[in-house]
Amino acid sequence: MAKEMIMKDKVIQAFREEYGADPAYLAHSPGRVNIIGEHTDYNGGFVLPMAINFSAWIALRPRQDDRVILTALDKNEKLDFGLGGFSKGKRSWREYVKGVAWSLQEEGSELKGWEGVLSGNVPIGAGLSSSAALELALARAFALVSDLAWDPVQMALACQKAENGWVGVNSGIMDQIISASGKKDYALMIDCSSLKTKHVPVPKKTRFLILDTATRRGLLDSDYNERREQCEAAACHFGVESLRDITQDQLLERAGILDLTLYRRAQHVISENQRVLDAVEALDQGDAAALGLLMNESHTSMRIDFEISRDEMDHMVSIAQDQPGCYGARMTGGGFGGCAVALVAEDQIEIFKDSVIQEYRLKTGLDPKVYLSSATDGTGFEVLS
Ligand code: GLA
Repeated sequence: MAKEMIMKDKVIQAFREEYGADPAYLAHSPGRVNIIGEHTDYNGGFVLPMAINFSAWIALRPRQDDRVILTALDKNEKLDFGLGGFSKGKRSWREYVKGVAWSLQEEGSELKGWEGVLSGNVPIGAGLSSSAALELALARAFALVSDLAWDPVQMALACQKAENGWVGVNSGIMDQIISASGKKDYALMIDCSSLKTKHVPVPKKTRFLILDTATRRGLLDSDYNERREQCEAAACHFGVESLRDITQDQLLERAGILDLTLYRRAQHVISENQRVLDAVEALDQGDAAALGLLMNESHTSMRIDFEISRDEMDHMVSIAQDQPGCYGARMTGGGFGGCAVALVAEDQIEIFKDSVIQEYRLKTGLDPKVYLSSATDGTGFEVLS
């Protein structure tokens, strides 16, 4: 049975067991893999992610009162709170639920209560945006029971606000927009200044493989926030709002004047923005080889200039890059561990997978996972009863 059907049946079945009735709705939203454009979103730059076939799922029905009651199947935990007054707790999945409610209410939405069950198969902490998937599935659930208009970009912004303002993670807008706006067989170029988007076809006869290094980022928030602050400091040096407004020539003029660390951070962002634009052109022309080279360059830039890779990740990426049929590979997501993404010729996938697993195990002693991804639609729902 397809993964999607398994997840769907799982939440519907669990809902029936818990409530003795069928759910009224199913809400779901995917994780993402970022093909290229890392740490550019909060610099007002360009990104090119695609929504993947791993999602968060919620089966639910409305309640007559203002309570939200949700069981997280994968954790065997339950949340129950009233929409009339709730407060922050320790960081956990629960804060995403309250955070999305808070953010929607802040924007003036009149929310109604509901009850449901939640499950997901986006690997957690792997850089594949399990949290954006959860936020958008929750937003969809609230929108269904409260009869809210659904504008994918507006909902993505509300979910980002939940993550920034309630959960306390200072992330950019990429993950929420792609989870909300993904399209089957397409990647999505997002201009993170104007929030304009463009769907671009993924190359034919190739697949994006997600390579989980089995390492997890440790001090994620502090490292991520530090990079953000460094980029802001570099932009401030140039007197502009974001590094999006600086050209390669302007940066070069400042060599030796701008602090070296800030210089390198800016170098990554400026060159990465250009790589995204070049990648879109490559995809428009169906040129997998050109895209692969850009992915390789992106990894080098993250490793050397942005310093967000780590040894295990570098091993994974170079093992992948060396395989026959691999056009290119790079780390994907926030960094400091998690997953790499590789673009591989369709007829080489099986051998690629076996070789990468074997070589990585030998090199690091770690047990990696390889996921075959495909580009899917963004946030969706079904009316069940
Ligand atoms: C995390 C954040 C995104 C983005 C990436 C890095 O996934 O949530 O907003 O900044 O890191 O590209």
